[in-house]
Amino acid sequence: MAANVIYGKDLAEELRQEMKQEVSTLHEKGVHPKLVVVIIGEDPASMSYVKGKKKASEKIGLDSDLIELPEKTSEKELLTLIERLNNDSSVHGILVQLPLPDHIDDQKVIETIDPKKDVDGFHPINVGRMMTGQETFYPCTPYGILVMLKRAKIDIEGKHVVIVGRSNLVGKPVGQLLLNENATVTHCHSRTKDLRAHTKQADILIVAAGKADLITGEDIREGAVVIDVGVNRVDGKLTGDVEFESAKEIASHITPVPKGVGPMTITMLLHNTMEAAKRIHSVK
Ligand code: GUN
Repeated sequence: MAANVIYGKDLAEELRQEMKQEVSTLHEKGVHPKLVVVIIGEDPASMSYVKGKKKASEKIGLDSDLIELPEKTSEKELLTLIERLNNDSSVHGILVQLPLPDHIDDQKVIETIDPKKDVDGFHPINVGRMMTGQETFYPCTPYGILVMLKRAKIDIEGKHVVIVGRSNLVGKPVGQLLLNENATVTHCHSRTKDLRAHTKQADILIVAAGKADLITGEDIREGAVVIDVGVNRVDGKLTGDVEFESAKEIASHITPVPKGVGPMTITMLLHNTMEAAKRIHSVK
């Protein structure tokens, strides 16, 4: 039987409608949440992502600024800009689009952002807070996956979650978030021996490896939930890390690419920005 397709795009739309209401309530309380996105250089994929973030922010009534800087911007100039944004009380969320040019140290940039304005949830203080189950900002893609699973009424507690990929952006934090929900978590990666033996054990399989069609129906257990985080461009077409056609015949639920996880990422960024403003201004 073909799987239920979980369209993150539809859920994202629903959540953004709810957030639009909440933003207007915050405006009535004199709080105007503002996100500033910084991009260095002109990588077309990154440019398209950041424009999407700005557009989505404006659509729900958030204030937003997009700061576009040339490729040759020095690390010092970027750090100075971040310090200025940290000290600007009208700014609640700061996002510096990654990856950065080679002459800039990503980690140094992440660690310069005020943890209270770190809406990506990448600052080591926020990563540590997530690991120890304290209130923080969750990284947007893992958070979007968690919300999708919950809204699709998929039980997480006691389930075996297998994650393919161990990036700091997705693989590691999504494992932590689901562990916090009492899942049993296995992390697989490029050095894992016999990947299929692991993926076949998954009740919930999350694939964030960045390799088109890495996982097929044969790698999936009958009735598993499959979350595809891949964004690959093959012959000009967007495709995931999971071969959708074969996987959907085996899985009970599956997310498509596009229209799956992607739209949830931006939605959680909007959520985190609102949350940052609420915490900074101590309003509910
Ligand atoms: N590059 C790709 N995804 C992301 C993200 O979620 N945040 C930032 N800052 N850069 C990215």
